[in-house]
Amino acid sequence: MESQRIREEFLKFFEKRGHKIVPSSSLLPTDPSVLFTTAGMQQFKQYFLGGESPHGQNVVSCQKCFRTSDIDEVGDESHLTFFEMLGNFSFGGYGKTRAIKLAKEFLDSINIHIDYVTIFGGDEIVPRDEESVEVWQALGFSQENDNLKFCGREDNFWGPTGEEGPCGPTTEIYAKGIEVWNLVFNEYYCDRNKRLTPLRQRGVDTGMGLERLAMISQKKNSVFETNLFSPILKEIFGNDDRAKRIIADHIKGAVFLILEGVLPSNVERGYVLRRVLRRAIRFGKLLNLPQNFLTPIAQKTIEIYGDVYPELKSQENDILAVIQKEEEKFEKTLEAGLKEIKKVPKLTGEIAFRIYETYGFPLELIEEIRKVEDRESFFFMQKKHQEISRAGAEKKFKGGLADQSEKTIKYHTASHLLLAAMRAILGPEIYQKGSNITAERLRFDFNYSQKLSGEQIKKIEDLVNQKINEDIEVEMTEMPKAEALKIAKISFEPAKYGDIVRVYKIGDFSIELCGGPHVKRTGELGHLKITKEESSGAGIRRLRAILE
Ligand code: GLY
Repeated sequence: MESQRIREEFLKFFEKRGHKIVPSSSLLPTDPSVLFTTAGMQQFKQYFLGGESPHGQNVVSCQKCFRTSDIDEVGDESHLTFFEMLGNFSFGGYGKTRAIKLAKEFLDSINIHIDYVTIFGGDEIVPRDEESVEVWQALGFSQENDNLKFCGREDNFWGPTGEEGPCGPTTEIYAKGIEVWNLVFNEYYCDRNKRLTPLRQRGVDTGMGLERLAMISQKKNSVFETNLFSPILKEIFGNDDRAKRIIADHIKGAVFLILEGVLPSNVERGYVLRRVLRRAIRFGKLLNLPQNFLTPIAQKTIEIYGDVYPELKSQENDILAVIQKEEEKFEKTLEAGLKEIKKVPKLTGEIAFRIYETYGFPLELIEEIRKVEDRESFFFMQKKHQEISRAGAEKKFKGGLADQSEKTIKYHTASHLLLAAMRAILGPEIYQKGSNITAERLRFDFNYSQKLSGEQIKKIEDLVNQKINEDIEVEMTEMPKAEALKIAKISFEPAKYGDIVRVYKIGDFSIELCGGPHVKRTGELGHLKITKEESSGAGIRRLRAILE
């Protein structure tokens, strides 16, 4: 079965059985303790904890996921960084019995034979999962038949994602020798100290890799031979299959990350993107691929997924431009860096760090070329470097502005109103991606996939001016970071802030973590005029505005 049909069959199967189809959420989750969306359940986390689901108790989705945990395995038959996860979920609706029966029924419906299943065998804290044993036995699975196995905490217990959240025992389904479907029974809440407390409401959270299912359904020996990869691999020439698979996987991941507005950099998400792009380029070198070899691979990826994720097509040029720019940048330093890695008599962690800093070679990439003697000193140097740049960032952040003249302070407050107005008009998923303020104007970058219409711009401008006219008081409170994160939405990692942070509130209209300073009342701002709207990278728009 083609992957597109599997997606549709899965969603339809569960829709017919009382599940609401919910679209994939972004690869960049709102939970600030995780960098990427790694599982279908993430967007539903709060509903497992008792929050009311606007979609009802039972839902089904096909979720884009990105994981770096398996990056070293990529190149074998089944591991990937980017993949799609099919999942059905229940928040206090049905339980284990129905979840297992539905899974079996779905696999039967698409002619997938289950080799065996695993069940949580119990430990000193969580008992053996007897209900799952009973259901699977009734379906013909048992230890005697050699198709039912018990495993411990390491294999058959899942979650939480991030620092805390729902988790529980799992039952996993294996076909053609690989794990295809993980059924998680969210019965516990795991807190920051890894303590488990039983949840009042039972929960079902399942995850099945689309690529693996396609591999089995299409009777292939690896995910790379399915229709989700084979057209991409045709674009990569050479004899080394592992290298080709790594390139295909990494470029696919990069395309989807860039689509979400991630740009290559040396920190956090940007670093992960840089790492997969540069790793792909390095493997391209091993295959003697020509310069700019990434573009046709990225184009093919967009072609394969364009029908399912049409925004890939509308942003194709921007995505390709980001990839090409990074390829050219890396190309320049690659040769010099390689030479140095090979030349130094001893490759210590400290030297590796210098190479990382000078040439942008991630540690993992350096280690693929040569062993680093003491990795600890690499991490030590990296931490020291981060502390220095963080201190710098905080300083910059406190000032936040080119200078602290009355006018720049006004622009700073105006930028808070602007963000809040954009969230009200364009949607709550709008985040600030950057800003630059002088005494003459403000420049503001935010995530949005299309050009703003004249009407949208006018609405945003009007709403800001309405809030200025309301002459609202701008209030500042200091509070612990954890508390602040509960009330303010931020798009970057809280590590940038200290433990006590400032929160600026403009009535109920805007709440932001910010170092200040700001005006006392919005009435001081005068009148805002948006002077320009333009693109500032894939999925990022830029507004310029002045105060008159
Ligand atoms: N949430 C289930 C899984 O990721 O396998």
